[in-house]
Amino acid sequence: MNYEETKALLEEKGQLQLLKYYDELSEDEKSELLKSIELIDLSLPEILSNPELSNKRGVIEPLDAVTLGDIEKNRDEYEKIGIEALKQEKVGAILLAGGQGTRLGYDKPKGTFNVGINKDLYIFQCLINNMMDVVNVTGAWIPLAIMTSDINNADTIAFFEEHDYFGYNKDYVFFFIQDMAPATDRDGKIYLATKSKPVMSPNGNGGWYTSFVNAGLLEEFDKFGVEWLNVFAVDNVLQRIADPCFVGATIKSGCVGGAKVVSKAFPEEKVGLLCIEDGKPSIVEYYEMTDEMMYSKDENGRPLYNYGVILNYIFRVDELNRIINEKLPIHVVEKKIPHIDENGEQVNPTEPNGFKFEMLVLDLIHLMKDCLSYEVDRRKEFAPIKNLAGVDSLESARELLAENGVEL
Ligand code: UTP
Repeated sequence: MNYEETKALLEEKGQLQLLKYYDELSEDEKSELLKSIELIDLSLPEILSNPELSNKRGVIEPLDAVTLGDIEKNRDEYEKIGIEALKQEKVGAILLAGGQGTRLGYDKPKGTFNVGINKDLYIFQCLINNMMDVVNVTGAWIPLAIMTSDINNADTIAFFEEHDYFGYNKDYVFFFIQDMAPATDRDGKIYLATKSKPVMSPNGNGGWYTSFVNAGLLEEFDKFGVEWLNVFAVDNVLQRIADPCFVGATIKSGCVGGAKVVSKAFPEEKVGLLCIEDGKPSIVEYYEMTDEMMYSKDENGRPLYNYGVILNYIFRVDELNRIINEKLPIHVVEKKIPHIDENGEQVNPTEPNGFKFEMLVLDLIHLMKDCLSYEVDRRKEFAPIKNLAGVDSLESARELLAENGVEL
């Protein structure tokens, strides 16, 4: 698009502020700006004035899980099935590491954060160590694809290279880059990062499969014979990845996917719950929960809506291929967004000052035919590092790592 076409489009979309400094720019900067505007999905900010375009809920019901007790009874059988699948390289792993980790206040890729006290122990290293536990049992490497963003891709790859992939087999590690979305002020006007660059940020973790396929990695994983993908977050340093028991239980259940869940610690806990919505599996966010959902009990006195997701899912690849063209809802998230103001001055807000637009992996669950809800022990498998201190923090994760015998 040339200048005139871009201007007409922005005028129509109410985003003319993006051209405010156009006349001050060099020829290169001008074409850089026009190119980046062309790549923006300008329909995203329109969600702010049309909330009906975002997520609408159906009829919610509880979904039972395979409990810790059920799993213990069947562990041998599940593990046998899982180990066999892993030996045949039927299971791949997808590490979602495209986020910005703003709550942690660390401006490098979150996986490069050092959780060690007396020695170095990086988040990426914890995850690789956890995968090595499985590799050591099965004798087979697990293909691993790491999703990054334009912002952290180069640093992430350099970090793995520098640390020699923490002993993992490099031939089984792939990187791919997720898409970006614009960030706006509270009125839906897209911010400028510089005079020639709109503020763009990663568009959430929900588009991972499309980005994985577009990067040609489905073909790469096909070469190994991968039929299942275990998707997980970067920041849970205790999670079991490609866990043979989880893999085996999901295969045995006949479901096309599975989600690791933990029992809620207390009714108001801020965790997304795996439920049934209009007859299909679905995750209800904590802020969408009614009081009835929070406090209802079943006949054994346990919370009726009890199982929270920990961002560790397994999907059958053919099911992902079936749903790949379905639209995911867009979540509007309030964030602190550094930008330049109308005088061209840099602003670094200390409080949220606008919105980002994200698709979330949890919404994929509702597109699936079914999903096994698989309970894990939160003190053994759930130590997310979102903040420096307090809930889900470096502090709490260190305590849990130590409790599980990890040297720090
Ligand atoms: P979070 O919801 O914790 O988001 O991501 P975040 O961006 O990392 O952190 P905050 O909210 O700014 O503090 C959960 C998982 O999804 C990945 C993250 O890297 C993390 O593993 N993610 C998030 C992506 O891969 N891409 C995204 O656009 C967002």
